[in-house]
Amino acid sequence: KIKGFIFDLDGVITDTAEFHYKSWQKLADEEDLFFNREVNEKLRGVSRMESLNIILADQDIPAAKKKEWTDRKNEYYQKYLTEISKADILDNMEAKLEKLKAEGYKLAVGSSSRNAKKVLKQLKITNLFDIIADGNSVERAKPAPDLFLYAAQGLGLKAAECVVLEDAESGVEAALAAEMRVIGLGPESRVGKADLVYANVSEINFEEIIKKL
Ligand code: BG6
Ligand code: MG
Repeated sequence: KIKGFIFDLDGVITDTAEFHYKSWQKLADEEDLFFNREVNEKLRGVSRMESLNIILADQDIPAAKKKEWTDRKNEYYQKYLTEISKADILDNMEAKLEKLKAEGYKLAVGSSSRNAKKVLKQLKITNLFDIIADGNSVERAKPAPDLFLYAAQGLGLKAAECVVLEDAESGVEAALAAEMRVIGLGPESRVGKADLVYANVSEINFEEIIKKL
C-alpha cells in the first residue's frame, strides 16, 4: 500500500534546469570549456561535482581548481534563485501536493541539490513536506539509492510504501535501486525504466498512480 510520495525537486516541482544551464554556460565561457544544451541534458539529476566531471569529459583538472569552478557556478546559480517565486511552481503542483497531504499521505523531497531548501523557501512550500532530503543529506548521490532511503526513513516508511517522482534517468535508477515504485516524467528514452511514465508534469494523475501501482 502506498503511504508516501518522494518528490524530486528540479524538473518535478519547479524547473531550475534553465538556470543550471545558464550558470554552467557562463563558467564554461570564462574557462574555455566545451558546453552546450546537449551536454546540459546529461546533467539532469546529477550532483554539482559530477556535472563538472561530465563537462570536463576526459580532461584532467586539479581538485582545487574544480572546487573553485563548482563554487563559482553555484554563485551564478544562486543569483538566479533570488528571482524565483511561487509563480515558478510547475503546473498545479502545489494543489496536487495539498490534496495528497489532506488525504493523509506523507510527503518528502528527495533532491540532489544542495540548494533544495533555499528553492523550497522561495516557492513557499517548505511546510508541505514531512522531510527534505537534499544534496547534503547523504554521501552517495543518485543513481545510488541512499537519498531516497534516507527520505523514506525520515517519513517512517518502508521502501515498498513509497512512490518516487523523477524526471532524470539517474533518479529513476536511484528509486529502483531503493526498491521503490517510481513515476517517470519526460520522454521514454530518458525515464522509460519507471513503473509509469507521464510526458510532463501537467499530466500527472495521482488517482491513476494510486490505483495502478
Ligand atoms: C539536481 C539538478 O536537482 O541538482 C542538477 O537536476 C544539479 O542539474 C543538482 O546539478 C545539484 O544541484 P546544486 O544546487 O547542489 O548545485
Ligand atoms: Mg530532477
